[in-house]
This record gives sequence, structure tokens and C-alpha cells, in this order.
Amino acid sequence: MSEYLLGLDIGTTGTKAVLVDGAGGVVARATSEYPLHTPRPGWAEQDPEDWWRGTVESVRRVMAESGARPEEVRGIGLSGQQHGSVFLDKDGKVLREALLWCDQRTAAECDWIHETIGFDRVVAETLNPVLTGFQAPKIVWLQRNEPRLYERLRMILLPKDYIRYRMSGEYATEVSDAAGTSLLNVSKRDWSEVMVRGLELELDMLPRVYESPVASAVVSGIAAEELGLRRGIPIAGGGGDNACSAVGSGVIGEGVAAVSVGTSGTVFSAMSEPKMDPKLRVHTFCHAVPGQWHVMGVMLSAGGSLRWFRDALCAEERAEAVRQGMDPYELITAEAAKAPVGSEGLLFLPYLTGERTPHADPHARGAFVGLTLRHGKGHLARAVMEGVCYGLRDSLEILKEMGLPISEIRSTGGGSRSPLWRQMLCDMFQTPLVRMEIDEGAAFGAALLGGVAGGVWPEVEAACAAAVRTRDAVAPDRAAAVAYGRYYPVYRDLYRSLRDQFARVAEIVEEAE
Ligand code: XUL
Repeated sequence: MSEYLLGLDIGTTGTKAVLVDGAGGVVARATSEYPLHTPRPGWAEQDPEDWWRGTVESVRRVMAESGARPEEVRGIGLSGQQHGSVFLDKDGKVLREALLWCDQRTAAECDWIHETIGFDRVVAETLNPVLTGFQAPKIVWLQRNEPRLYERLRMILLPKDYIRYRMSGEYATEVSDAAGTSLLNVSKRDWSEVMVRGLELELDMLPRVYESPVASAVVSGIAAEELGLRRGIPIAGGGGDNACSAVGSGVIGEGVAAVSVGTSGTVFSAMSEPKMDPKLRVHTFCHAVPGQWHVMGVMLSAGGSLRWFRDALCAEERAEAVRQGMDPYELITAEAAKAPVGSEGLLFLPYLTGERTPHADPHARGAFVGLTLRHGKGHLARAVMEGVCYGLRDSLEILKEMGLPISEIRSTGGGSRSPLWRQMLCDMFQTPLVRMEIDEGAAFGAALLGGVAGGVWPEVEAACAAAVRTRDAVAPDRAAAVAYGRYYPVYRDLYRSLRDQFARVAEIVEEAE
């Protein structure tokens, strides 16, 4: 009998399922998309029922396409967009749409938490400041703005943990994702009484916390029928999408960093102790490997910036791509490749949904700076891609300041499929860069965790040793690295110059609403 592992990633654009064999090879993959709702500027919500529908559809598709039999699936791993809030009533019914990681409505609630509990205490417990995307300020927002719903609130879950609940009936989470709630004592890897009581919550409103590769639940009879799986399959704790993606890229232990360009962009490195950036510009969270932590810089609109560019300005390329049966990004990046390094003085600030690292500013906005009559669409496309790389370099610089040894970068996420983007990142970081043999992102890492929970491998390290391989090594191009090195300080100063104007614009927009 063959043995398979199922990995799921409850992402922002869709749910992805991958079925992995016992040797770590991917035998089938499927994605099922769903909408993101923005009822007001800066707000971002999704219907958890859409996640469940996406899960059922993608799981059924990988099972059908692979021909795997339900009894051959040894373990399941869940990963997902971090920080989202799923609010449930006493019967486990969803109270309202979930507020997502990129939702920026909670600036006042973050301040309130810092004032009420004390900024230093918050940082001592959670190793991070409370930021607008995190889960705790969303709970306070519900209390203040939708008190009727808040009265009925009995359980708060993260996105992937809602899927676990639908699969098993269990309320459970794990350390890597729980670290992004502002409710976990990140050093101790358990809920923080200080934070929970400080927000007038009860511990029984939060799910039980597991380590990521540990079996946290099993598939229930009802869910097995809906998903076309077998009842009783162990479900690993799993992990936040960034931690899972790092596992799938072998970014465990020190020495290598992962850069991911998905909707968001992250620079991620593992650590054997919970070190922090003294200026708190990057997040210190638990890793999905027991006994490890990770540090991570997060850009809110990385691939999201190029998606905006495609949707807002590339109708022609989209139509042409349909005619030629290809991906519009291939046409857009081919145009970008024709523009020279540095886009002839055109810079782009990728703060389309505010920014986390390094500015933690919900009011930051996108900008093209340096436009001239010479600049065409190719320059604009290249400037967008370069702007994302400058912003990710901000994160890498902080990791280096923290003294983390980084001799290789592993690139993942949709953006890593573009050779142009990979070379740009490599030149910008002035560090050798590889991509992954299997680049299925977080779902693949989740499947490996499912394999540990299902007994295929004894621990995460063994799963990575069996399944993770790199390819397509690139080295920095000297001339490009020098050019980017000259533009980078200008990029950094642009935010400082514009910060106050961003805040003024936000005020005008808010007043006009
Ligand atoms: C990480 C973060 C994003 C989401 C994207 O802190 O907010 O990377 O996890 O899914």
C-alpha cells in the first residue's frame, strides 16, 4: 500500500492542497480560489465558509487526480494566512466575516492594549508590539464596535484552525501561528495569562496550543464524508504559512534565510533561542520546529503590488495572455526585463496596504517617484518589482543587524517563479540565492508536518532531510548590486520624507468617508 500526506494552505487568494508521497514527492496539487472583501478602505475580510468550501474542493480534486485511496493518507498538515480572527458563538457558529492579516482598522485598539497592559509588559510576554494585523486588537475592535456580537463570542480561532475545527470538531492551534495573536507567551510557547486577562478574555475562549508536528486532532466521520477522506486521519498542529513555507524550504536551524514573495513578502530566519530586534521592527515568533523560534520581516504588498499593477494597468497584457494561453505575469515581467537596472531613476514604494516591516505604519501608501517622459510601462513594471526588493532588503538588513548568520537565501512563493525577480532579489541582497526543487509553498511544509504527526518521519529535521532539495542557484551580478546599492538609501529616505504627508492624506480620506 502506498502512503500519502495531505498538506493544506488556507491562503488569502485561495486554498491550496498538495498530496505528497512517502518519499516527499508531490503527486497532485489543486487550488480553489475565493474573494477578499474590502467593505471600507484598509479593511480586509473573508467568509470562513469560503475557506471550507475551498478546502473541500481542493482536497477532493487532489484525491481524484492522484487516484490515492483514502486509507492511504497517513497524515494531514494545515497551514494558513496568519493573524486572522474567526469569531465563534457557543455552538461553534461563525459570528461575522473574519478580519484578515492585512486589515488595518485597529490602530486605536493597538494603542489601547499598549496603554492598558503596558507596552513593556506586552513586549516581555509576546516578544512583539501589538500590530494592526495581529489578532488581539481585532478582538478589542469587535468589543467596541459590534458589542452585540461580542456578547455572544465564545471561541476565537485563526484561519487554518477554523478548518481544523470543521475537519475534526476540535478547537486547537499550534505555537507558530498562535505567536501572531499577541496572546501567546512566545518564550514559553503557551497562552499568556497577562495578555488574556488584560483583555478581559477567558482562557477557555482560546483553543488548546500544540507543537506543530504533533497530532492535534483526527478527521471526524462527517468531515471524512464531505472531504472524501477516511475518518481518524491524524491532523498535525501545522503552522502559520510562513513557518510552514520555511519547513518546506528546509529553513530550520541557523545559516539560511527564506524570502517569500506571495501576496505579502517575508524574510525569515530560524533561531535556537527567541532573539528580538531591539527596535522591534521584525517579528519574533515560535518556529514550527520544537525548540526553535524564528524572526521575520513582513511586507504587506509584495506580489500584491505586482497584482495591483496587472489589474489596474495591464488590461492589454491580460487580453493578450488569454489569446496566447499564457500567464499575464510572463508578459509583464518580459516588458520589465527590457528596462535597465534601476528603471532609469524610477522608484516605487510598495506600501499599497500600509506597511509592517520596518515602518509599522497603517497609513503608509504606494508611490512612484522619479517619473519622466522617458518612462514607459516596462519601466513601471520593473520599478514595482524593484520596489518590492528594496523593501525586502529592509528586512534582511535588520536580520543582519541582529547578528544572524545568513550565507544563502531560499526563495519561495509565486514571485520565485520569475527568474527576473530571483536575480533582482539576489543582486539586491548581495547574497547567493536558490529556489526550491518543490516550490509548493506552505502547503508542502504542512504536508511534511502531517508526515511527522502520521509517523512517516520521526521529526521535522528528518522530513526536511528526506524531502527538501534546492535548484537554480544564482550569484549576485556585481554591476547590478552596485547600482541597487546606490538607489537603496534613496528608497529608504523616501518613506521618511513622505511619512507626514501619508498621515495627512489618511486624515482627509477618513474625513471624507
Ligand atoms: C505574516 C503575515 C502574512 C500572512 C500572509 O505575519 O501577516 O505573511 O501570513 O498569509
